[in-house]
Amino acid sequence: MQRELIRAVLERQVLRGTVRVAGWVRTRRDSKAGVSFVALNDGSCFQNLQVVAPDNLDNYASEVRRLHPGCSIVVTGELTPSPGRGQDREVRASQVRVLGWADPEVYPLGKQRVSFERLREIAHLRPRTNTFGAVTRVRNCLARSAHRFFQERAFYYIHTPIITGSDCEGAGALFRVTTLGPEGANPGEHGADLYRGDFFGRQTFLTVSGQLEAEAYACALGRVYTFGPTFRAEDSNTRRHLAEFWMIEPEVAFADLNENADLACDFLRFLCNAVLEECSDDLAFFEERIAPGVMDRLQSVATSDFTRMTYTEAVDLLARDGHRFEFSPKYGCDLQSEHERYLTETACNGPVVLTDYPREIKPFYMRVNEDDRTVAAMDVLLPGVGEIIGGSQREERLEMLLVRMRETGVDPDDYQWYVDLRRFGTVPHAGFGLGFERMIQFATGMANIRDVIPFPRTPRNAEF
Ligand code: 4AD
Ligand code: MG
Repeated sequence: MQRELIRAVLERQVLRGTVRVAGWVRTRRDSKAGVSFVALNDGSCFQNLQVVAPDNLDNYASEVRRLHPGCSIVVTGELTPSPGRGQDREVRASQVRVLGWADPEVYPLGKQRVSFERLREIAHLRPRTNTFGAVTRVRNCLARSAHRFFQERAFYYIHTPIITGSDCEGAGALFRVTTLGPEGANPGEHGADLYRGDFFGRQTFLTVSGQLEAEAYACALGRVYTFGPTFRAEDSNTRRHLAEFWMIEPEVAFADLNENADLACDFLRFLCNAVLEECSDDLAFFEERIAPGVMDRLQSVATSDFTRMTYTEAVDLLARDGHRFEFSPKYGCDLQSEHERYLTETACNGPVVLTDYPREIKPFYMRVNEDDRTVAAMDVLLPGVGEIIGGSQREERLEMLLVRMRETGVDPDDYQWYVDLRRFGTVPHAGFGLGFERMIQFATGMANIRDVIPFPRTPRNAEF
């Protein structure tokens, strides 16, 4: 007999007929009348299916009464309306087959609540909890919706390399990729020779962003996007930093910063709507148990206009408001997350697009504005998470790009191919990167970014 997903059984209109389901036991309780109630979850949806196992089953005493959270079973039985409270249907089992036992003495996900910190130490089992099941389904919905958004707008999905020779953000927070042994690189006469004997005959890293390669494709196919893992070796132990995270990066030829910001706002609204429409059960759980207000915040981003202001206006506003910050805001310095949070949560009370940052604090690829002091950069800030998107219009003028490379300490010889894009048929273009995990944080209200990615990599933590 065909096995059905619990989701499908719960969606059925007609409550009769034989069904077969399989999953993991969440709870079991026994009634005095000689039946056991098993809450069964197979991950296909938030809800459990109630299985009623009568004591006339062959293995009732020997097995059913020994089921505990975590055991895996296959159940065959009749689907019927449920007289009990809390569910409208149940399966009256005619057969319960045990696939795998889980010793309650040692299974870490028994009846008592387990903290998120403890769950990180058992990252292989935490997908079996309500929270991580729900996070995983929301994550999937956001990934599917991101593709849908760009596919519907005639963007091409491209796969940019994970191993790269360039440092897109110029922040130097790179993981080296090498096959050289523990004795390391063989120092030659010049620095560049150091990695001549290495696998690629040069030094290589894990990518921090697919942007530069995406630019090459945008300057040929018009509209492209990447969606892949990115890596940053910054020693940041915060609730919104990972060493390995996923980024969605659209890149558009013939677009300026304004169109870029419009695209970013449309994209965020689209994602919020998708989660609201497609993940109602999981969202109801987050609203009730994890982050009250999360649905309102999603709703408000889905429907609101984003406040737009320049970096200079933002710094003025922060200074003028008289709010006491740990670091006082100063023109020419990067905004701290406390500043970003204040702007989006208090000053604007909604999403904010900040534009036109001082050129000194931004990477070489951002286009220099008319004023010569600022670049056509943009950050999008959301309540609760702060910066969720970073992007810019790109410097498409060859001469200016070379100036910017020199002033940011980037050697144009290392980026010949990138410079070429300005040499042959250059066009204005722009793009941005959405931090995928930060988006999941916003959608679920999960406080720590380590709890929205299956196996988090952070400083001194790559256990799984
Ligand atoms: O602002 P970032 O560094 O921008 C870029 O990498 C550009 N090359 C993107 C582009 O224009 N194509 O990173 C983009 C976003 C941030 O806004 C943030 O949401 C997320 O990526 N992000 C991180 N998320 C988790 N952990 C980290 N360590 C992150 N660093 C950035
Ligand atoms: Mg940024």
